[in-house]
Amino acid sequence: MSFKVIDQAPARLNRSELAVPGSNPRFIEKAAVSSADVIFLDLEDAVAPDDKAQARKNIIEALNDVDWGTKTVAVRINGLDTHYCYRDVVDVVEQAGNNLDLIMIPKVGTAADVYAIDMMVTQICEAKGFKNKIGFEMIIETALGLQNMAEIAAASSRNESLHFGVADYAASTKARTTGIGGPNPDYHVLTDADAEGNRDIHWGDVWHYPIHKMVVCARANGLRPIDGPFGDIRDPDGYAAQAKRAAVLGCEGKWAIHPSQIDIANEVYSPSKQEVAKARAILKAMKEAQKEGLGAVTLDGRLIDIASIRQAEVMVSKAREVARAEKIAAGPAKKPTAGKKKK
Ligand code: GLV
Ligand code: MG
Repeated sequence: MSFKVIDQAPARLNRSELAVPGSNPRFIEKAAVSSADVIFLDLEDAVAPDDKAQARKNIIEALNDVDWGTKTVAVRINGLDTHYCYRDVVDVVEQAGNNLDLIMIPKVGTAADVYAIDMMVTQICEAKGFKNKIGFEMIIETALGLQNMAEIAAASSRNESLHFGVADYAASTKARTTGIGGPNPDYHVLTDADAEGNRDIHWGDVWHYPIHKMVVCARANGLRPIDGPFGDIRDPDGYAAQAKRAAVLGCEGKWAIHPSQIDIANEVYSPSKQEVAKARAILKAMKEAQKEGLGAVTLDGRLIDIASIRQAEVMVSKAREVARAEKIAAGPAKKPTAGKKKK
């Protein structure tokens, strides 16, 4: 390991992150009783310009009055290139900052973007005497953001997670697609022709590079990497496949832009019983090996060594984190009132 210690963002379950337009109070109340780990109340792209002011009011009211139970609640503000941005920060943080867990900053391009929001949030929280520390979720969804991702990830002690916003990223890079995430039939390789001249088509994953880069920049700075939206809500299998690809690379969760995607994300991002059993078997085998002074052994015909212990520990500790969070969420204290107005 390097001598540098990486501070970790506060631990939060972030398997599913439900997007809810701030312009729709009914959706907001329904979100509070959903099974999503994180809810982000949107002031940005799901809200039309004429509705922004009302959406802000709805969100402030919901943060202060709705019982969110054990959920993490975020607000996606408008981008720093719009005049809505400062008003989002000032109104939401001044009027409801003590009930807000995270601010989601869209289209982050440079570390200075994060600095600017941090400066405003810090001043407001200090002036209001808030004790909670509002964290930041940053959406990487432009070419500039991807280029500067390492500096962005390190830009504030409020930073908690990086998110890949595939739709805006595609627009920014002028990718030839109008879909929101998922594969593209034009992104494929052709195998060489066989004896009969037949060639197979193998689809590739267009989004592999930005997602993998996000995982690296997030993990190198102690943040959670989260995969963004998948637009085809009629394709749960396609959603699950995308979620699994991102999970294999190291992501901790994925957005749900429709409630039907929440449970799929929760399942994909919770280690399965088999995965946990295998991880525990590795830990047991390595403990035995170390007693005998061995650094590597075989388990089920495969070599395992000390690095396998670290991989297995990641799996087991994730399973514990999920179990702990689910137990708290199921606890009797909060559940019955979630979604209802607090009084
Ligand atoms: C999310 O904001 C996206 O642009 O995909
Ligand atoms: Mg976007």
